[in-house]
Amino acid sequence: MLGEVLVESAERPMEPPVFARTGIRVLASLPTAQTLDLTAEAVASRIISALPEAALVLQAFTPDSPAGNRLADDADALLEAVRTRLPADRLLEETWRAREAGATLVELCVAPGGVIVGEVPAREALSLSPGGRQRMRRPTDSPSRAAMKLEEALVNLPYEPGRGEVCVDLGAAPGGWTQRLVARGARVIAVDPAKLMPELTQQPRVEHVQESAFAYTPEEPVDWLCCDMAWRPLEVAQLLAKWGRRGWATHLVANIKLPMKDKNPLLLRVRHILTEEGGWQGLTMRQLYHDRDEVTVTAHRSL
Ligand SMILES: C[S@@+](CC[C@H](N)C(=O)[O-])C[C@H]1O[C@@H](n2cnc3c(N)ncnc32)[C@H](O)[C@@H]1O
Repeated sequence: MLGEVLVESAERPMEPPVFARTGIRVLASLPTAQTLDLTAEAVASRIISALPEAALVLQAFTPDSPAGNRLADDADALLEAVRTRLPADRLLEETWRAREAGATLVELCVAPGGVIVGEVPAREALSLSPGGRQRMRRPTDSPSRAAMKLEEALVNLPYEPGRGEVCVDLGAAPGGWTQRLVARGARVIAVDPAKLMPELTQQPRVEHVQESAFAYTPEEPVDWLCCDMAWRPLEVAQLLAKWGRRGWATHLVANIKLPMKDKNPLLLRVRHILTEEGGWQGLTMRQLYHDRDEVTVTAHRSL
């Protein structure tokens, strides 16, 4: 029944899984035989009777596969059928407020085998997007797809780089991340031997340091360390740990490249280096929707 879309586990994992897009506690499981007409009163009622009392953000998703894509209309119809039968004051429409409002995220997973209904407190959700698919439109002026990875990482943080803050961007070229940071009002020191897009080199809030990140030392501690360097993961982790140990930055957002097949042993070592050797705290490590053979890490250091 769970098939290609969900992995079932009897207990909640100790650490949030790195490669999962979403994680829910299953409330109800409706096999296909009962869900031939997904908008039927009986199906919607069964789902509604399984829902918690809290304020809800209600979403539906289908597996990211051809069979799942064919169910997209059914998923929309089911979502609509449930929504219209719920009192309006139970539903929180502004998904982005779900965490601060203490809402519960309810996901309807419409798969070829049937429908799974699951919940997670929004504050603990891996993502607030349906099925963890945080779709982003590439900003029209963005020089690289990479910018969407940073945007997706920042959506999941309770704070983001802002006006007057200083960010160091290691492996910055051609400048997608730098540009998104500047757009938020931050000042950026972009470290990369390669060239930045010309618009950024003329931007007064961007300083391009054209050298290796391994040779670079900041003149004073900065607010954010951002890193999207295409380099060996353990060496990048050691570099980020050095920044942590020396207190050179307060917040960290880093993309770690993992071209190898067996990623997990490496991830454990990266985690160890960042937390035990670097002193980075509150570490999250996830393969975001826009990540490919890579994971995105966020963390902070208390001052
Ligand atoms: C994936 S690209 C970064 C894309 C960038 N974040 C953006 O949004 O446009 C990887 C970058 O890492 C840089 N890089 C590789 N080794 C580096 C090093 N030792 N120091 C600084 N940058 C490095 C490469 O020059 C390349 O520009």
